[in-house]
Amino acid sequence: MKGKLTFTIIKPGAVANEHIGPILKIINEKGFHIAAMRMTRLSVKQAQEFYAVHKERPFYDSLVEFMSSGPIVVAILEKENAVEEYRKIVGATDPSKADEGTIRKLFAESMQRNAVHGSDSDENAMIECDFFFNRSERFYKDQDCCW
Ligand code: CMP
Repeated sequence: MKGKLTFTIIKPGAVANEHIGPILKIINEKGFHIAAMRMTRLSVKQAQEFYAVHKERPFYDSLVEFMSSGPIVVAILEKENAVEEYRKIVGATDPSKADEGTIRKLFAESMQRNAVHGSDSDENAMIECDFFFNRSERFYKDQDCCW
């Protein structure tokens, strides 16, 4: 399983701007299998918990407010070397530094409203997938992915 999965959120700004379809199209075209997906909305408490690693950062409160401000799409993505491969197509956190053609270059509005989240390690991918999805909601292509 290690290395084959990552977790993504299409954030409230991108959902409100009708970018779900275009973002999913890029994800599929780049060879990711969508193993789980749901549209949901985070409570303030859930957003605080999901981003707890950033709680000492100056942007934490506004990040929590933004992430709980409207619907999001959460998904588990499957591909060899998924975390790294997805981070390549997502682009830099700061959209002004993101490469041409990346999701953030195309759809981010600012550093905070940066269209999508992507896991930064295999360990965090597992934690983040478990935060949103139980086993019966996951439809892997490669059965080695089942944890
Ligand atoms: P994400 O990949 O979801 O992980 C943490 C989020 O914090 C990041 O994307 C941005 O939305 C946000 N973030 C990171 N750095 C800053 C910053 N300097 N100012 C505002 N928001 C930030």
